[in-house]
Amino acid sequence: MNQMELSFNAKIENEPFARTSVAAFVTALNPTIDELVEIKTIISEGVSNAIIHGYQNNAECKVVIKVSIEDERIIKIIIQDYGKGIEDIEEAKVPMYTSLKELEHAGMGLTIIEALCDNLEIHSTPNLGTKLTIRKQLKDSDIG
Ligand SMILES: Nc1ncnc2c1ncn2[C@@H]1O[C@H](COP(=O)(O)OP(=O)(O)O)[C@@H](O)[C@H]1O
Ligand SMILES: [Mg+2]
Repeated sequence: MNQMELSFNAKIENEPFARTSVAAFVTALNPTIDELVEIKTIISEGVSNAIIHGYQNNAECKVVIKVSIEDERIIKIIIQDYGKGIEDIEEAKVPMYTSLKELEHAGMGLTIIEALCDNLEIHSTPNLGTKLTIRKQLKDSDIG
């Protein structure tokens, strides 16, 4: 097992930092370019949801990301906030559902995460926060 953790303030300008850091960490597994793009997209959508929906951009709050490399090239990513929480998780997962229509949100973030990973678990409690547990299986690598 190999693991990393990141904790950073809920500012949208930290989203590229989070995405790039996770990409750098998983580079050790020699992923394909496509897999790296998919992982970055997953982080980008999950982190922006934590900042915008979970914390309503309250920059004093912290987003936590944990990445572990499990057996057989499975990457486990946890994206956690201690914010607003989701009342109806099934509704939130519906493609094009958004609670922030006025801000040009497409409502596709959770749908995209689900499409780009092998398994998505959402645990959320109103006013306690939201935890996404995402698993992605990387293809076999020629090298190493
Ligand atoms: N971390 C979170 N905390 C609170 N609510 C969330 C969180 N992530 C998602 N949601 C809820 O789920 C909805 C759907 O999320 P998503 O598919 O990413 O669409 P969008 O971000 O465009 O609204 C959001 O509009 C929001 O109501
Ligand atoms: Mg979103």
